[in-house]
Amino acid sequence: MADEIVEQQTALRQRIEATITGMFAPEDEGLRYSLQAAKEHGLPEIQINPIQGKLLQLFAKACQARRILEIGSLAGYSGIWLARALPADGHMITLELDPKHAEVVRASFAQAGVAERTEVLVGPAMQHLPELVERGPFDLIFIDADKASYPHYLEWALKLSRSGSIIIADNCVRCFPALWKEEDRQGEIDADTQGLLKYNQLTKDHPGLTSLLLANDEDYTDGFNVSVVR
Ligand code: SAH
Ligand code: DHB
Ligand code: MG
Repeated sequence: MADEIVEQQTALRQRIEATITGMFAPEDEGLRYSLQAAKEHGLPEIQINPIQGKLLQLFAKACQARRILEIGSLAGYSGIWLARALPADGHMITLELDPKHAEVVRASFAQAGVAERTEVLVGPAMQHLPELVERGPFDLIFIDADKASYPHYLEWALKLSRSGSIIIADNCVRCFPALWKEEDRQGEIDADTQGLLKYNQLTKDHPGLTSLLLANDEDYTDGFNVSVVR
């Protein structure tokens, strides 16, 4: 009986999500190409979902973004959503560690028609961030790379932003179950989880930020941390 109710609720949630996606966040060929290219090159399938992509666009529009910075490009899926929110004279820089990923990103951006307004910088994000000071301030910053470094990325996001900029970090909800488990067992918390927990704490307490966690993935177990710079 309980199983049946869970199944019904899951089906209902999936139908609601499919309806919202179809109405407000349909994928075109460019976005689908990026997903397919990721698959073909054996990259992990860890992209944001279409509703999250549309939400990124909404945030970009809300702060009238002309300069966007993304940390962690993978195959360009989230980058396409973001770049498409830019005006004609806008620009997006995306940072990617893996040169193989970066190649796929460039192909995806070309397919999606956003090659001209985007730039892929290859290497560890921490190496590129200092050189971006003279290219800022960025109106929107999307953090989605190695989770252990999120607190450092926040530090740089604050340096690279202006009053009214929006800073979004993916995967900031998933750290809580690990925390609760380890609290019971008094064990070690891995570096990724620690990075995410610290990021949430820093954004919550920062006097220069107004922040909120949104459990906005498929099953409410992960989602965005969203901060507006005051
Ligand atoms: N934003 C993407 C998903 C990113 S997955 C999307 O939603 O479509 C995380 C990416 O961050 C991977 O491609 C990984 O190679 C990259 N990454 C990991 N560590 C990094 C680092 N130190 N600097 C830059 N990119 C990094
Ligand atoms: C995973 C998901 C992500 O969105 C990400 O940025 C990194 C890893 C994952 O599910 O493993
Ligand atoms: Mg992510």
